[in-house]
Amino acid sequence: MIRYSESPQGITPEQLQGFFEGWPNPPTPETHLRILQHSDEVVLALDEETGQVVGFVTAITDGILAAYIPLLEVLPDYRGQGIGSQLMRRMLALLEDYYMVDLLCDAHLQPFYARLGMVPTTGMMLRRYDRQSGRTP
Ligand SMILES: CC(C)(COP(=O)(O)OP(=O)(O)OC[C@H]1O[C@@H](n2cnc3c(N)ncnc32)[C@H](O)[C@@H]1OP(=O)(O)O)[C@@H](O)C(=O)NCCC(=O)NCCS
Repeated sequence: MIRYSESPQGITPEQLQGFFEGWPNPPTPETHLRILQHSDEVVLALDEETGQVVGFVTAITDGILAAYIPLLEVLPDYRGQGIGSQLMRRMLALLEDYYMVDLLCDAHLQPFYARLGMVPTTGMMLRRYDRQSGRTP
């Protein structure tokens, strides 16, 4: 069974294995935990049998008008079961009071987000790949 949680409290780095698939220089599990702890909102999907986190989504906000969803990921073995949709539905519910809720995604994922009520737009971004594993604290 998958259990959903809206807090990283009590989560350990050992429960955060296998994320950032395909990233050449990914955050460590310890850094991943810090990301969860420093986000304004998180939703976690936990496999109750293994105790592992198998999916997560984060949001950062100004607390008033705008929210941004930087990260959503479900572990490969758990994809295609509705977990990603459930994480997003729960996150959008947490952010329901905000005027702006934005994220960036590849074009092939636009139908996934459109099913959740989001609309395509254009945007801009900057990536510093030498910082991909995270800022030093
Ligand atoms: C995107 C992601 C979170 C979806 O999680 P999930 O648990 O598989 O999602 P769900 O089971 O709720 O929904 C699956 C649907 O998402 C869509 N989808 C997921 N990954 C896709 C991909 N790579 N290309 C196209 N569509 C995709 C499919 O339309 C699928 O629909 P179906 O169930 O009718 O086949 C997951 O594939 C993932 O972690 N990918 C790698 C990280 C990533 O791309 N994150 C998003 C950053 S913007």
